[in-house]
Amino acid sequence: MATLTLFSDADVAALGLSPTACEVAKELARRQIPMSVIKHAPIKTMAEGMAIGLQDELSGCICKNILVRDRSKEYFLIVVALEQKIDFKRLPAVVKEMDRVPSMAKEVNEVLGVEPGCLSALALVGDRKRRVKVVLDMAVVQSELVHMHPMCHDATVTLRTKDFLVLLESLEVATLKYQLDSVASATVVGDGKLKEMRDESQQEDNSEEQTVTPWEVSAGSGGIDYDKLMRDFGAEKITPELVALMSKLSGAEPHRFLRRGLFYTHRDLGKLLDAYSRGVPFYLYTGRGPSNSSLHIGHLVPFLFTKWLQDVFRVPLVIQLSDDEKFFFKEHLTLEETHRLAYENAKDIIACGFDPELTFMFSDLDYIGDMYPVVCKIQKAVTFNQARGTFGFDGSSSLGKIQFPAVEAAPAFPSSFPHMFRDRTDIGCLITMAIDQDPFFRVTRDVAPRLGWKKPALMHSKFFPSLQGPKTKMSGSVESPATVFVTDSPKEIRAKIHKYAFSGGQDTVEQQRRLGADLDVDVSYQYLMYLMEDEQRLKQIGDDYASGKLLTGEVKDILVEELVRITGEHQARRAQVTDETVRHFMDKTRKSLDFSTMRPDGR
Ligand code: TYM
Repeated sequence: MATLTLFSDADVAALGLSPTACEVAKELARRQIPMSVIKHAPIKTMAEGMAIGLQDELSGCICKNILVRDRSKEYFLIVVALEQKIDFKRLPAVVKEMDRVPSMAKEVNEVLGVEPGCLSALALVGDRKRRVKVVLDMAVVQSELVHMHPMCHDATVTLRTKDFLVLLESLEVATLKYQLDSVASATVVGDGKLKEMRDESQQEDNSEEQTVTPWEVSAGSGGIDYDKLMRDFGAEKITPELVALMSKLSGAEPHRFLRRGLFYTHRDLGKLLDAYSRGVPFYLYTGRGPSNSSLHIGHLVPFLFTKWLQDVFRVPLVIQLSDDEKFFFKEHLTLEETHRLAYENAKDIIACGFDPELTFMFSDLDYIGDMYPVVCKIQKAVTFNQARGTFGFDGSSSLGKIQFPAVEAAPAFPSSFPHMFRDRTDIGCLITMAIDQDPFFRVTRDVAPRLGWKKPALMHSKFFPSLQGPKTKMSGSVESPATVFVTDSPKEIRAKIHKYAFSGGQDTVEQQRRLGADLDVDVSYQYLMYLMEDEQRLKQIGDDYASGKLLTGEVKDILVEELVRITGEHQARRAQVTDETVRHFMDKTRKSLDFSTMRPDGR
C-alpha cells in the first residue's frame, strides 16, 4: 500500500520528472493533495506495465485513458481501470453521437497539450481551455486509490480517489460517472464509416513499433511489418525454390497460401525436405488454445494449410488442444471450462477435413501423463531466465504460466507419442502456426540438441487481419461483434463485413473512381487473398478495385459471398462430427496410429 505524503515544490523538483510532469506534481503539492510518486522503467503499453509488475506493486486502480470526440466536436476523456476493456457499445449512452477517437498525435496534443501516448487524466490540471469532459468508470470512482502517469512514461502518481474527485471539481471539469465495465467491441460505426477505437496504448503508436507475442499482436498505423518481424525473430523467408522443392517432393501444386506468400517464413524447412528426400520421414504438429467455443475465420489459416500438407505428403499429424494454457493465461476461464472448450473446438478442427487415420488430437489435461517424461526433461533444461527473456515472465507470473512453454514444446518430439512412434527418434517434425507462436518453438529448438533430440522445422503464416485493419490479427478471445466466427450465419457475416471491414477505398464514389483503393490496408481484399482460390479472378478484383472500377461495397459483396460459401461448407461438415468422431480422433489405442515402421510416405 502506497504511503501518501504532502510534497513541497522542492520535493517535487528532487524527483527529476519531465517538465510537464513536474508542473502537475507542483500543482498537486500547491493544492495540498497528498500523493506518492514512484519512478520506474519507461512503460508505453499496458502490457509493459504488467510486465514490470506495476499492478502487483500498486493496490487500487491503475487508470488508462482514451480521448473520444462526438459529432459536435466535444471531447470526452474516458478513464477506466488498466485491466478493463471499454464497452464501446455503451458509450453512446454517455457520449451521444459518438464520432471518433482522435488518433492523430496532433489532435491529442492540440486538445490536451500532451504528447502522443502521454494521455492522462492529470493532463486536465494544465488544461486551461476546458474543452474536455471526463467520464469516470465506477471501478475508478469506487477504488480507494488511483494511479496515473504524470504525462511521462517513467513515473506513476498515486492519489486518494476522493482527492482526485475534489481536484476535478475545483478545476471545474465536467465529470460524469458511469459503469463501463463489460467487455465488447473495439470498434464503433460513427457517420456510416468505420472509425477506429483505440485505447491510449495504441493511440500513441504512430511509430513503427510493433508487438508480436503469443498473447499480444499490435502494430503502428502502417500495419504489421512482416519483414521486420522476420528479421527480429531470426526466421527465414520461404523462397520460391523451397516452394518448388515442396511441390516436387509432394507432387502437388503449391497451396494458395504459399503462392501468395501468406505462409512466409520458416526454420529448417529446407533441412526437413532434404532429409525427407533421402528417406527420413516426418510428422506434422499444430495446435489450438481453447479460449472460445468457436474458431474464428483466422484460425482456419494454419489448420487448412496443415490439412493440405497432410493430404499431399500423407503424413501423421498431432493436434494439441492446450486447455491448460488457456486456464493459466485467461483470468476469467476455469479449468473445467477450457477442458470443455477443447472438445467444442475439436469439432471445428475435425471439420477442416483432417484424415482420421493419420491424425491424433489431444487435450493436454487428458494426455499430459503420456508426454510428461518429455515435459519434465524440457523443464529441467530451460531456466527461468531463458523463459523470462523469451516470454517476458516476471515475479508476478504464476508457476502455471512459467512452466507451460515446456508443454507446448513437448509434442515437437516423437518420444511424446510412444503409441505412434514407439522409440523412433529419427523422425522429423514440421510445426505449422501463425508467427505469434514462434517464441514457443525458439525455446523448443534451443533445448533440443541439449537433450539429444532433433530440432523441429517450422512454417509460419502471416495473420489474417482484424476487421478493423492490418494493425492486429483477428482474435476471438474478446467477444467482439467484429470477429467472424466459422459458426456465423450468412446474415451475421453480411452485417459484420458491411459494418466493420476497414476500407482502403476512398470516401466518395467520385474519389474512388478517380483514385482507386489501397489494397494493402483494405481488409476485404486482404481476406479474399486468403480465401479465394481462383488466381485470375482475385487479380481482376484487385486491378479493378485499385483502379477505381470497383467500389468498396461491391468488393465487400464478393467477400461476403466467399465467406458464406466457406462457412456454410464448414458448418455442414461440422454437423457430421459427432462425439464419437471426436473420441476417435482422440483415441490413442487405435491401430492406425502405429507409425513405428513409418517411411517418408507416412507408412
Ligand atoms: P490459438 O488458439 O491462439 O490459435 C490457434 C492457431 O491459429 C493461429 N492464429 C491465427 N492465424 C492466422 N491469423 C490469425 N488471426 C490467427 N489467430 C490465431 C495461431 O498462431 C495458432 O497457430 N498456444 C497456441 C496453441 C498451440 C499451438 C501449438 C499452435 C499449442 N500447440 C502448436 C501452433 C502450433 C494457441 O493458443 O493458439
